[in-house]
Amino acid sequence: MNSKNSAQTLRFLRRGQPVTVGNVAPDRTLLEVLREDLHLSATKEGCGEGDCGACTVVLGEAVGGQLRYQAVNSCIRLAHSVAGMAVWTAEDIAAPSGELHPAQEAMVQCHGSQCGFCTPGFVMSLFGMYQNSGGGQSITREQAQADLSGNLCRCTGYRPILEAAEKMGRLPLPDGCGVDEAATLTALKALEQKQNGDESYLRPGTLQTLLQARAAHPKAQVVAGTTDVGLWVTKQHKRFAQVLDVTAARELQRVETYPHHIAIGAAVSLTDAFAALVQERPQLKTFGQRFAGLPVRNSGTLGGNVANGSPIGDSMPLLIALGASVVLMRWKKTKTGGEIAHRELRLEDLYTGYRTNVMRPDELLCWIKVPRPTGHAPSAAPGHPKPASAPVGGSEPNAVGSLGAEQFMRVYKISKRFDDDISAVCLAIQMTVKGGVVQQVSIGAGGVAATPARARQTEAALLGQPWNADTVMAGAAALRAEFQPISDMRASAAYRHTVLGNLLQRFWLESQGLQGINLDNLQTVEALS
Ligand code: FES
Ligand code: FES
Repeated sequence: MNSKNSAQTLRFLRRGQPVTVGNVAPDRTLLEVLREDLHLSATKEGCGEGDCGACTVVLGEAVGGQLRYQAVNSCIRLAHSVAGMAVWTAEDIAAPSGELHPAQEAMVQCHGSQCGFCTPGFVMSLFGMYQNSGGGQSITREQAQADLSGNLCRCTGYRPILEAAEKMGRLPLPDGCGVDEAATLTALKALEQKQNGDESYLRPGTLQTLLQARAAHPKAQVVAGTTDVGLWVTKQHKRFAQVLDVTAARELQRVETYPHHIAIGAAVSLTDAFAALVQERPQLKTFGQRFAGLPVRNSGTLGGNVANGSPIGDSMPLLIALGASVVLMRWKKTKTGGEIAHRELRLEDLYTGYRTNVMRPDELLCWIKVPRPTGHAPSAAPGHPKPASAPVGGSEPNAVGSLGAEQFMRVYKISKRFDDDISAVCLAIQMTVKGGVVQQVSIGAGGVAATPARARQTEAALLGQPWNADTVMAGAAALRAEFQPISDMRASAAYRHTVLGNLLQRFWLESQGLQGINLDNLQTVEALS
């Protein structure tokens, strides 16, 4: 049962044609609408929580005059969030004649087609890769492995699927199979005019109207990509009479680059946010790819992850270690009407307890400001954003910063599965060493307290000390003493406790140039051979 008191009409494109669905409650998922209202039963429900990828569909949006395709999990995506977009399901990509799309044909030819649950999801992820790569020719095994990380087969038949990903670009595209992008863009434009102004699912298009909506509807459930809120619906059966979606506010869809920091808007997806972070710090690439699977990263936002404040959210330990801050905004009434008021605080000061924070009922988390690495070349004046530049010596291990200091940055995710899993422990460390002495250190920890936390006591134990084995031993003891993790299904308290200290030791070894077993470089093909 969904909320019935505030349903509104949903419009999107399917196979280039507008689809109108009446009476869609604000808390219905896209998967429910596809399967129950439109009877498109090829899209499957496996886990209902963004883990397995059985429900994957592809969304198309106009971005800078081009169509951008994103594979997302329809099971946790609220239906109204796709209003005004194009949606492709596994039933929408073959030609009207029945000839298969290359993403499907390659699965057949490589014997990648398996059970009816996982296969439609794999096919849609392949379709998203095909469209985004301009026809699939350039897809490598490595990219396929990364982009299919959100699709699970319990029977582990991955190799033929990876081969299908590499093969599909070499197969002909049957007539009637391709996407007419110009026509789709025109149809999306026409659809834009038809969006109605109902108030059960609010999706304001500007920052000002978003903040005004927040002030006017303080009880509305605020959402971004719903990769966690979606589970409140599917697993906890929560109901929302009204939803306020931040993702359409144009100003918040940007990553802005300034001389000393980048600013990531609250509507920027995790995919794009990590791309910006990796551009500045290439060593974060694997960590970014291990943040859930691609469909979750395509829907979820960095702002949503931070505002949600889950103690096992992966981005916060990293952002705390990097010295990030958050900008909270609200609409303030004045005699002449109103204005945007804002305040900025360090990310770790946002949280007050388990999923609680200091935000006022009329405030929204709008920006995350991340300092740029030491030694980067300033590339833009404040207020004049430019694309982020490549780091110059930045925070690669053993890089030399501006004053002869060495800055190291590492983030470690410990989980049962390498891909598409939630951390048992996440530890991020940034340290500057000058003349063999710890000159600066910031440590963010996840999975070991009620909130993402900064390890201040450990930092104090390391600061000003020689960076050697004795200091590391003392630091590891301080780190273990600083947190009292709990036992749960992901790990026991004792395991988390032990791992915390071990990770600091690993960081020390890596800062000395030593590498242990490095799962980052292990490919599925090697694991299977
Ligand atoms: Fe498993 Fe949606 S049903 S990710
Ligand atoms: Fe579908 Fe393994 S074949 S889950």
